[in-house]
Amino acid sequence: MSNFLSASIGRKVFMSLTGLFLLSFLFLHLTLNLLLIFDDTGILFNQAAHFMATNPLIRIMEPILASGFIIHIIWSGWITLENMKARPTGYASGDQLLKWWEPAKNMFILGGMILIFLVLHIFNFWVKMKITGHELLDPITVSGVEMQNAYALVSNLFKNYELYDLIYILSGVFVGLHITHGFWSAFQTIGLNNSNWMKRLKCLANFIGFVFAIGFSAIPLYFLIKF
Ligand code: HEM
Repeated sequence: MSNFLSASIGRKVFMSLTGLFLLSFLFLHLTLNLLLIFDDTGILFNQAAHFMATNPLIRIMEPILASGFIIHIIWSGWITLENMKARPTGYASGDQLLKWWEPAKNMFILGGMILIFLVLHIFNFWVKMKITGHELLDPITVSGVEMQNAYALVSNLFKNYELYDLIYILSGVFVGLHITHGFWSAFQTIGLNNSNWMKRLKCLANFIGFVFAIGFSAIPLYFLIKF
């Protein structure tokens, strides 16, 4: 097993599997966050956030899914650095670096930007909701149940800080671009590289990437335009 993981292909397979696993986290995350734009009273979003924070199964699954991010990012950074060491001239050439808009060539750069976004993002919401608390989170009662006012915290950021809107919009696009390449590439790494299937998987990857990019960007964009 350790030989498999230390071999280049073993590391790529592991990265592919964690990447595919992360898609399920992102899907759940996007679905819940979209409630922010379908109900300006915030009741639906607060109920969903409360459900996520209190449901035992989700409480077990969420940290596992979230730690998938850390593993995926560290692992992919390691593989890329190893590749750079093995092929220093190829990666240093302007040809490789300048095509930043091609996700296939720049998974590392996109991944790095997503990592920077994630650190900021965790401080924006997760740290306040789980560790430090915040006055905007003061409990409210919805249908007789007391819960944190997560909507007030999240909507306050998007309503009052245009720079954050921009950062979140761009990050949504980066996540989408990253997926358009990562999704089919993961299947190829796992061994599914029949050309008919590859065509279908590339189509599906573009579709999923597009849905994530539009979905995540739509949330800050909505607050930017409406409020
Ligand atoms: C408009 C877009 C987004 C909104 C409104 C949003 C909102 C939130 C909120 C409110 C939390 C805290 C949840 C809690 O602790 O109960 C959170 C946590 C988190 N978000 Fe996001 N998020 C967005 C985009 C993203 C994106 C694009 C990613 C990944 C690239 C991401 C990854 C995470 C992770 C890993 C956590 C910590 C684990 C968790 O608590 O679920 N988020 N997000």
